Amino acid sequence: MKVLVVGGGGREHALVWKLKQSPRVKEIFCAPGNAGIAAMATCVNIGVEDIPGLLDFAVDRGISLTLVGPEAPLCAGIVDRFQEAGLKIFGPSQAAAEIEGSKVVAKDIMARYGIPTAKYAVFSKQADAVRYINQIGVPCVIKANGLAAGKGVIVAADKETALDAVHSIMVDRNFGEAGELVVIEECLVGEEVSILAFTDGVNAVPMISSQDHKRVFDNDRGPNTGGMGAYAPAPVYTQELHEQVMKEIITPMINALHVENRTYRGVIYAGLMITSEGPKVLEFNARFGDPEAQPVLSLLETDLIEIIEAVLENRLNTIDIRWKKQSSVCVVLASGGYPGSYTRGKVIKGLDRVPPEITVFHAGTAKKGQDIVTAGGRVLGVTAVGSDILTAIKSAYKAVEKISFDGMQYRQDIGRRAVQKMV
Ligand code: AMP
Ligand code: GLY
Repeated sequence: MKVLVVGGGGREHALVWKLKQSPRVKEIFCAPGNAGIAAMATCVNIGVEDIPGLLDFAVDRGISLTLVGPEAPLCAGIVDRFQEAGLKIFGPSQAAAEIEGSKVVAKDIMARYGIPTAKYAVFSKQADAVRYINQIGVPCVIKANGLAAGKGVIVAADKETALDAVHSIMVDRNFGEAGELVVIEECLVGEEVSILAFTDGVNAVPMISSQDHKRVFDNDRGPNTGGMGAYAPAPVYTQELHEQVMKEIITPMINALHVENRTYRGVIYAGLMITSEGPKVLEFNARFGDPEAQPVLSLLETDLIEIIEAVLENRLNTIDIRWKKQSSVCVVLASGGYPGSYTRGKVIKGLDRVPPEITVFHAGTAKKGQDIVTAGGRVLGVTAVGSDILTAIKSAYKAVEKISFDGMQYRQDIGRRAVQKMV
């Protein structure tokens, strides 16, 4: 079959890499892709939000299946448009994807169905938001309602930060329409874990657990980023916790979405905080995480096409999804200055010196003449699989040492939390 992957980051490279291993897949296209994806698929220069352009392409080329990586096209209704045109596409409908597109929608569903999450209130007026912050005090968390490329969440330790956040979202409108409403939440304390699951709307099959590293610097310091690295599985996620999360969070959420006419098919991502009172939801996403997809897909044994077909045919309960009994680590190499401003076009050296058992997933890269150059904040995701987390960490960092570009920055402590749990 001919497959189209929508997106151009590390997550999409991991999807293309996994699809490439399927005997069912003859040809892969990726829109827009990147320099790494171009080595294993045909990249086409169509933006992820150009839904009519993507639809025309899929019809013209006789694409048999489309996979959507990022949230923006899902929230804009790409799945609905493709289905109306009679095309097969993997991902949630616009109504289902609203669990990511609107934090208010997600929180209200959780509240109605008793799914554990931080206490919250929603505001459309700055003065009311300020009054509420004065009432609950700090720390608290301020969130723009809509999509804000991972930047619309401010964890405020002091009042000044909280009030600035409200001003920036509601008055300066730094996130545009996404800031028409704000959600103000109690601040949860604990360890974070990402639980992704495949679901056909009725059955949910969890993937192995993973953990992202959101802050830019070691020891979780500095501003939030899209994710500086990830590992899987996460030892904090014990069997007991797993049973609790399925029973109290994933299964009730899938059922609630069905009842609310938002039947969810695709990958659902629950960002959880493991608090002293048990697991609570920080956020739901409507897609694979980036960079969680890189280690998680590296450990998936089953053919991804088989899983996707089972989802699309509402028979996810009939297949067996297998995982390697190993660990995987992805270290993100980022441009100097990221998540603030950075320059592009730096030549990346040493990719040919990386050992073959390591997979370097490209994120922001482009081809320039004979060179591969940087073209984004997160540039590469160096991904290793090992018999345990320590082995995987060691081989990932050994490969990282071979790669260089001007201003390259990365965290030295990806996976350290998991190692601490081993002893
Ligand atoms: P979100 O996009 O909602 O996951 O928020 C991004 C990050 O902000 C999360 O990964 C957490 O680190 C942090 N965060 C979000 N909500 C809360 C909360 N209620 N309490 C503490 N931290 C939070
Ligand atoms: N790694 C966090 C996300 O994909 O939203």
